[in-house]
Amino acid sequence: MVEIFKSEIDGESSPSRARWRVSADHRIEYDVEMVENVLEPDNRALAVRCGGRVLAVVDHTVEELYGSLIRAYFAHHGIPVSVIVVPAEEHTKELSSVVTVADAMADAGLLRRSETVVVFGGGVVMDVVGLAANLFRRGVPYVRVPTTLIGLVDAGVGVKTGVNRGKHKNRLGTYFAPTATLVDPLFLASLPPRHIRNGLAEIVKIALVKDAELLSLLESAADPLRNASYALTAVDTHEEILARAIGGMLSELEPNLHETDLERIVDFGHTFSPSLELIADPPLLHGEAVAVDMALCVELSLRRGLLTEFEARRAFNLLFRLGLPLTNRMFEANLLEQALDDTIKHRDGLQRVPLLTGIGRATFVNDLTSEEVAVAVASTRAMGQALEGSELEMSLGMEQGLARG
Ligand SMILES: NC(=O)c1ccc[n+]([C@@H]2O[C@H](COP(=O)([O-])OP(=O)(O)OC[C@H]3O[C@@H](n4cnc5c(N)ncnc54)[C@H](O)[C@@H]3O)[C@@H](O)[C@H]2O)c1
Ligand SMILES: [Zn+2]
Repeated sequence: MVEIFKSEIDGESSPSRARWRVSADHRIEYDVEMVENVLEPDNRALAVRCGGRVLAVVDHTVEELYGSLIRAYFAHHGIPVSVIVVPAEEHTKELSSVVTVADAMADAGLLRRSETVVVFGGGVVMDVVGLAANLFRRGVPYVRVPTTLIGLVDAGVGVKTGVNRGKHKNRLGTYFAPTATLVDPLFLASLPPRHIRNGLAEIVKIALVKDAELLSLLESAADPLRNASYALTAVDTHEEILARAIGGMLSELEPNLHETDLERIVDFGHTFSPSLELIADPPLLHGEAVAVDMALCVELSLRRGLLTEFEARRAFNLLFRLGLPLTNRMFEANLLEQALDDTIKHRDGLQRVPLLTGIGRATFVNDLTSEEVAVAVASTRAMGQALEGSELEMSLGMEQGLARG
């Protein structure tokens, strides 16, 4: 609706001759659909999302593992496909990759609305392709097929796109929804254990801030996961775990897709971790840095009396049993202070740090002090060492038991 503000322009103080206010709503609608075996030729879930021709943008590892299945799938459905293979390391998440993908879009010559870009890959490739799809002709339709656990439960389900710039993660980015995301857990079969643990950290986050039932499921899955070298699909509750993680994430994102409200419980574990992730040596994956941040925030919640000792122990134990780090030697005073400063800028002037008030419940605080954080870091470190020690004792005990037996 366009309105003209008569009274204001009539007033002597207004320098405007005329002023119009434009106020419009932009409806966002997309599907996130769990589909097993999305590349099975008889599975139509992807084909029905693709009108006419397709440009497939494929993560280089996914090309090696699934490239021939991707081509065979489109051939089976009579859909002409051009394929571009792109690298997927974090350092390739930069503007030049967006331009490469946009050039491939131009070369493919797709119709503006009725033909489709399909991205197969993890968070890096999806973030790049989402931005390219948003910039190309000011927005063309794209479908996401995530192939990593972070992709399935996090990067693939929201509307954020972006690339890194300078020393800053996701500094250039937009909000741009796909037409659909097709979540196929079978891609996880080829994902290295470290990348499974990376995604598990984001699932633990959802459990801690809003889903106590999910936390219990993860606790029951922790041993089978370790024994099966983190093959998530080997756990018979994996579909329920994924569905609760995705549903929980979406229910937080949907009312706040453009992050108008900066108090986001999904930012739990994302206060100090972005700074740690940037400088960690040896490097940390995103979920690993998030796990270290979550452990610190659990300790802060405990020290503020928001969380009981028992609840805090459950959180620490789960992270530990899933093979995630609880501490990092680079988590020290200077870094933590600078991280909190950066967060305050990112969250528009306030800390807005999510802390836990129970398993599955969170609140926000704005008054963390450096001293409080330093004390919590020290006790998290001591507790991490104690957990490692107890595991060492347990495994020594088992070895001795075996030797005796
Ligand atoms: N847009 C968002 O809302 C959002 C949310 C979370 C994370 N992210 C971004 O996502 C990125 C991390 O994503 P990621 O963890 O998926 O990493 P990634 O995209 O780098 O993929 C990790 C590795 O796994 C390989 N790979 C992909 N699929 C595979 C498969 N099925 N089998 C074997 N190997 C496979 C890739 O080639 C890569 O080497 C970060 O840049 C982060 O900022 C974005
Ligand atoms: Zn995250």
